[in-house]
Amino acid sequence: MTLFDSHAHCDDARYNAEYEGGTDKLIKDCLESGVANIINIGTCIENSRASIELAHKYEGVYASCGIHPCEALGRNDVDGIICELEKLLYDEKAVAIGEIGLDYHWQDVPRDIQLLYFEKQMELAKKLNIPVIIHDREAHGDCLEMIKKFPEVKGVFHSFSGSPEMARELVKLGWYISFSGTVTFKNARVPKEACVVVPSDRLLIETDSPYLAPTPHRGTINMPAYVRLTCEEIAHLREVEPEEIAKITMENAKRLFKIK
Ligand code: NI
Repeated sequence: MTLFDSHAHCDDARYNAEYEGGTDKLIKDCLESGVANIINIGTCIENSRASIELAHKYEGVYASCGIHPCEALGRNDVDGIICELEKLLYDEKAVAIGEIGLDYHWQDVPRDIQLLYFEKQMELAKKLNIPVIIHDREAHGDCLEMIKKFPEVKGVFHSFSGSPEMARELVKLGWYISFSGTVTFKNARVPKEACVVVPSDRLLIETDSPYLAPTPHRGTINMPAYVRLTCEEIAHLREVEPEEIAKITMENAKRLFKIK
């Protein structure tokens, strides 16, 4: 079975500290274990650029570039940063803007600044006709409101934490929904319910490595190879074979990110 991890941070500093051989060994191990493709996600200009460099080293790895809401630095810098981001996105291995969105769990960045960066990056996605990867933590209402302002822009809500009703609404609006290792957690009732209502042509899977390691690795460093465990759990919940989930999530990711 061949898998597509639609969301990982393989260049995270933790790999060079905690994984023998660091980022390069991690990616080689994952590609050998049946994960054929990884979208490596940026959260600021610096690691978005690093993500593109990484993508050029490995055929199956692609880059997403964007400013995470927790990395939104300030009002005065925004136009310069968006301009830098746009330049990165002309690279042939940059397939999405992300991760962008809203994080109301961490209070470090004021909401108006988060909203400003989110909106500017949605405008850029519209201009460049490129999909977006949304980070929505405890901000479901404002995220929905923002994407409705940009009906031309489509993408994926990553590590989805909303309700089945929200999943249905996003699907109606033309969006994809990605589930991470959180669906494997024993008490994760809501994501388990949400992942069965998503139509087969809108479902994605991911790890969000190095975060959110699935059961039974919870609490340890996550890695793209573990996307298999999320695939198996979703297959179990939807009462189909894991190979079927692997196949449809691969097709969906390639369609969304325009990968041949
Ligand atoms: Ni992430």
